[in-house]
Amino acid sequence: MAASEALRSGQLTQLTGGFVRDFEVAFGQWHGAGDCVATSSGTTAIHVALGALGIGSGDEVIVPAHTFIASATPILHQGATPVFADVDEATFCLSAESVAERLTERTKAIVVVHLNGHPADMDALLEIARARGVAVVEDAAQAHGALYKGRKVGTIGVVGCFSFWEDKIITTGGEGGAVISDDEALVERMRRLRHHGEGPVEGERAYYHVELGYNFRMTSMQAATGLVQFRRLEEYLEARRRNAAYLSERLGELGPIDPPFVAEYAVPSPYKYVCRLRSDAGIDISRFVAAVAAEGLPISRRYPTPLPQQPVFRDAGFAGAPCPVSERLAGELFTLLVHPTVETPDLDDYVTAIRKVLKALS
Ligand SMILES: Cc1ncc(COP(=O)(O)O)c(C=O)c1O
Repeated sequence: MAASEALRSGQLTQLTGGFVRDFEVAFGQWHGAGDCVATSSGTTAIHVALGALGIGSGDEVIVPAHTFIASATPILHQGATPVFADVDEATFCLSAESVAERLTERTKAIVVVHLNGHPADMDALLEIARARGVAVVEDAAQAHGALYKGRKVGTIGVVGCFSFWEDKIITTGGEGGAVISDDEALVERMRRLRHHGEGPVEGERAYYHVELGYNFRMTSMQAATGLVQFRRLEEYLEARRRNAAYLSERLGELGPIDPPFVAEYAVPSPYKYVCRLRSDAGIDISRFVAAVAAEGLPISRRYPTPLPQQPVFRDAGFAGAPCPVSERLAGELFTLLVHPTVETPDLDDYVTAIRKVLKALS
């Protein structure tokens, strides 16, 4: 309905229609952020943020070894050097100690990922970053509405980046993204980079381009769909949190499975429900996942290849120093689904299947 309204309006783009701006205002205000710039994806949100921060050749950007590839590829696209840091054993988010070990004179930014919807320990990371004048970019692609000490993630660093891909907490019809920030100059530059470096645009477009930009725009149909999803965001979060709490209570009884940890400072937005099959169980993770899948349930391994070992980085010489926690987690983690349409009987099916598989493989 919303998408067809945008389609019928005949004004299909961010440049011609009003839906994109409406979406930006709604999403930005919900965060209490200075402003919001919608993008074509979460990847391009991170890309435009790094571009606007002036990250380029010769700069180093610290990023976790355990995350989705798109947390790091925009660093390479900007011609900068990704430096992989390890993650915290419990939250699976960036470890401040590991970041401190990787800082150099060339470090310009840290991409902090709120993985699986669990906030990273922002105070520890900000303290290190501020002491060195390093920008903190929050990759909140998986964490809309998650709270760190009561503050929404994405509002704590200099810029917060979101994805609205199809399975994210809200979607803009399959693909989409946004950045939020209180820094007016940064917002202006992100907006400019999103659209071919054109600016300043007042009144009629002058087709005057002040710097090298991109086409990272969101469409009207995406934004119109996103507005409808946005109105249900709180309801979706409630359902995800309810599902995650239920599973944690039931899976906690099953010996070698560690349900997701929740730090004292955090109210997560469970995007994916990621558990650890402890290695002391002596069960191979691939066999375990295959056996649960054979019971007809959606399950997968979680990031089985850490980023430094991905050929795109390794073969280009960016493997860097070891990240032992990320390497171990790659062989221990699996993902279950807790999105709003998952119901209690589906969660009970997980518990039954996992109990059965553990018994068979132990
Ligand atoms: C942590 C993280 N960062 C960035 C992205 C990129 O978002 P998109 O797929 O919208 O480009 C994703 C998407 O899954 C993600 O999970």
